[in-house]
Amino acid sequence: MSAATQPILRTGNTSPAAPVHVGIIMDGNGRWAAARGVPRALGHKAGAEATRRAVQAAGEQGVSWLTLFAFSSENWRRPADEVRDLTGLMRHYLRHEVDQLVEQGVRLRVIGDRTAFGSGMQAEIERAEAATAGNTRLNLNVALSYGGRAEITKAARDLARRAAAGEIDPDAIDESALAGALETAGMPDPDLIIRTSGEQRISNFLLWQAAYAELVFQPVLWPDYGPEHMREAIAEFRRRDRRFGARAG
Ligand code: IPE
Ligand code: IPE
Ligand code: MG
Repeated sequence: MSAATQPILRTGNTSPAAPVHVGIIMDGNGRWAAARGVPRALGHKAGAEATRRAVQAAGEQGVSWLTLFAFSSENWRRPADEVRDLTGLMRHYLRHEVDQLVEQGVRLRVIGDRTAFGSGMQAEIERAEAATAGNTRLNLNVALSYGGRAEITKAARDLARRAAAGEIDPDAIDESALAGALETAGMPDPDLIIRTSGEQRISNFLLWQAAYAELVFQPVLWPDYGPEHMREAIAEFRRRDRRFGARAG
C-alpha cells in the first residue's frame, strides 16, 4: 500500500482530525432554478458562484485537497443546450478564475476525460493547470467528464497493456499499483465526501478512492452553498468514528 492510500489508523475517537481531502458532489442547480421559475442555465451560473465560494472556504478552513464534481461522464446524456451551457460556464470559469486561484495559492488540476471536450476547452484546461502549477496552499481537482468506472477501467487497461509488453509482472499488480494508475495517483484518498441537494448517492464519483470516505449529505441546493455549510459538514465529519475495519478499543 502506498503512503497515499495508507489509511491513518486511529483507535477511539480522541481529538478527531480535520479532513485533509474533501470531495463535493455539487448537486441541485436545476432544482434551485426551478424553484425560482428561471432557466436551468441560471441555476448553473449561480452554481459556478458557489464553486468560487467553496474554493475560498476550503482554503480558509484548512483543507489541503478539494475535489469538485462538476460534470460527470453521464452528464453528456443531458439535452445538447444544457451541455453547451455547462461547457461554456466551465470554460469561462477556467479562463477567469486563474488569477484569483493564483492569489489564493490554489493549484488546479482537471481529472476526467478532457479529450471529450473541444480543443479550445482542452487548451483552457492546460493553460489553467500550467498557470497554477506552482501553488501549494490548496490542491483543487475539478472533475470534468469524470466517471469512477471509466477511470478504473482505463487504469486496468493501462496495466494490462504494460503487462502484455513485459514491463510489469501481472502477479505484482496490487492495490497500490492500481491506485498509482488512476488519475489521482499520489494524492491522498478523500476523507470526507459531501453531496448537496439531499440526494444520497455517489453517482460514479471517486469510486475507488472513496472506499473509506465519510459521507455527509446536506439538503442545501448547490447554488446556496456557503462557508457555513462547509463548516457544518466538517464538524459532522469530526464527530464520526473512523475505524477502517479495525476496532475502536
Ligand atoms: C448539478 O446540478 C450540476 C451538474 C450535475 C452538472 P443539477 O443540474 O444536477 O441539478 P438538479 O439535480 O437537476 O437539481
Ligand atoms: C452528479 O450529479 C454529477 C455532478 C454533480 C457533476 P447528477 O445530478 O448528474 O447525478 P444523478 O443523475 O442525480 O445521479
Ligand atoms: Mg442533479
